[in-house]
Amino acid sequence: MQKTFYVVGNLKMNMLSCDEAGQYLSVLKREMRGREFSFTQGVICPSFLYLSLFDHLPSGLTKGAQNLFPEKSGAYTGEISPVMLKNDGVTHVILGHSERRLYAGETDEDVREKVLAALKYHLVPVVCIGETKEERAREETEEVLLRQVKAVFDGLSKLQAESIMIAYEPRWAIGTDVLPTTSEILQVRVFLRKFLTETFDASVAERVVILYGGSVKSSFLPAISWEAQVDGVLVGRESLFPYELVKMMEMFENEAKKEKTKKRI
Ligand code: PGA
Repeated sequence: MQKTFYVVGNLKMNMLSCDEAGQYLSVLKREMRGREFSFTQGVICPSFLYLSLFDHLPSGLTKGAQNLFPEKSGAYTGEISPVMLKNDGVTHVILGHSERRLYAGETDEDVREKVLAALKYHLVPVVCIGETKEERAREETEEVLLRQVKAVFDGLSKLQAESIMIAYEPRWAIGTDVLPTTSEILQVRVFLRKFLTETFDASVAERVVILYGGSVKSSFLPAISWEAQVDGVLVGRESLFPYELVKMMEMFENEAKKEKTKKRI
């Protein structure tokens, strides 16, 4: 089975007006012009406020959200429901991002509830997991990741499990330009595959998309993605440059084509 690669752009709380978001979008559309993506999907996640601007994206791109509230509707002031997102054409939703864990106090249990709500309304959850610098120094990475994935995956059906995308984002690598090595990322991938095989089976482990996130730039892609055997990247700052985002999609597309040829030989 030919895999799809993903480039998820997390625009975070950037762009201060509809005009600014609109300008970003026109540049993005211009960069996408004339390009075809058969094996790579881009997901662009703007602020809720601008989601409706991001309709009619070029093929190869869909829109995602940065959060949701795990209820369909009701008296939840200031929140956004998964059904609102779905009805607006959103395909993916980033959940459990470390900035939400840090600034909004989201716990593993909150993340689980949100993941269940996303699955219920057919949104693909992009679940962020990752250890802090201190946890890494204490060699607790696997313990932390295990706690975070267990909270999300325990008790799910195989079908639910394989609809989830995991983004491994070491907290110390976000916004810092400090990156893990290829072998560190590969080790995490192996660890996650083992967890999924033991909890479900090898085919679920094979299907769950695993991304890397944290200081991603196109120039780092070989080391942090295909050499580390992940299925794509979650990009913060660099996604604010449409040129970079599309370049990464193109690099993944070329890599996928190479893999295809390799398989044919
Ligand atoms: P960064 O952010 O690429 O700016 O490090 C990544 C993220 O927070 O998802």
